[in-house]
Amino acid sequence: MLLKEIKNIFHKELGKTYPKEEIDSFFYRCIEHYLKLERFVLAIQPELTLTKEEEQPLFEALSQLKQERPLQYILGTAHFMDLELHVNEGVLIPRPETEELVQWILEDVRSQKSEVGSRKAEAGNMDFYPSPLTILDIGTGSGCIAIALAKHLPKAKVCALDVSEKALEVARENAKLNQVDVTFLKNDILVPEFELAYLPMRQELKLDFDIIVSNPPYVRELEKEEMKNNVKDHEPSLALFVTDGDPLVFYRAIAQFCGSHLKEKGSLYLEINQYLGEETKALLKAHNFSEIEPRKDIFGNDRMLKAQ
Ligand SMILES: C[S@@+](CC[C@H](N)C(=O)[O-])C[C@H]1O[C@@H](n2cnc3c(N)ncnc32)[C@H](O)[C@@H]1O
Repeated sequence: MLLKEIKNIFHKELGKTYPKEEIDSFFYRCIEHYLKLERFVLAIQPELTLTKEEEQPLFEALSQLKQERPLQYILGTAHFMDLELHVNEGVLIPRPETEELVQWILEDVRSQKSEVGSRKAEAGNMDFYPSPLTILDIGTGSGCIAIALAKHLPKAKVCALDVSEKALEVARENAKLNQVDVTFLKNDILVPEFELAYLPMRQELKLDFDIIVSNPPYVRELEKEEMKNNVKDHEPSLALFVTDGDPLVFYRAIAQFCGSHLKEKGSLYLEINQYLGEETKALLKAHNFSEIEPRKDIFGNDRMLKAQ
């Protein structure tokens, strides 16, 4: 069959569920992934014909897209900043907003705005520190935040934790794939015994953290209605949802944890629920954080907070 005919079939079959641009993007990502064809191939070879064997994975992907399975799970990969990561239904698909959170940390380290920077790192050389920068990512999922930070700050000691063994498996695989060294811990940030489970590690690595970062679950049940089926039916509930009664449960646990594990002049970076910005700020203030700085994401939503 002609490749352009297959593209038309994608539009016909998916047109009721997805906008045109998104279907184009699905189609091009599929031909890139399965056939190693560039997206401009149709412009230069409009009559390109595929064999039955070549067509097959495209039609299989199409049938899963029709069931609203996210493309990243179908292909098994997602992009995050300059990284390629494995993903499956055990982990959240990394989002562009989270890339912005990582960029914020990198900007601060580079411009020496954080306490880390004020340790007189050589201008422009973020690899130079009197002692290695220590970073913890809470609720690491695919490992995207921890791995991107480890990649861009190769001298830093990066740890990451998650309560989900399935997520940790994927994160460990992604660290290997991207050739970075991250210490992964299975732990539940909501359970007070966390300290006990964590202490041996802390003694061994002598770790208190310069930077703690988290994109914890923050979507309220009442916000489920606004979500697309491909997110709420396929991505892990454990990674997304909190109860309507206590939507800041993770932020409270993280703020408490920071009391004993974030260095005095360390920084906390959080992705937040856009509807709960004021409440999250108030919670951090109540836990003695100062210099609480909000930031909007590219879509103009209140999406991130930094606190010291
Ligand atoms: C919103 S996802 C973020 C994943 C990843 N950091 C990202 O930005 O794509 C939240 C993560 O927190 C983890 N999580 C949920 N409850 C947790 C708990 N009690 N303790 C530790 N991690 C938890 C989930 O398994 C999930 O991987």
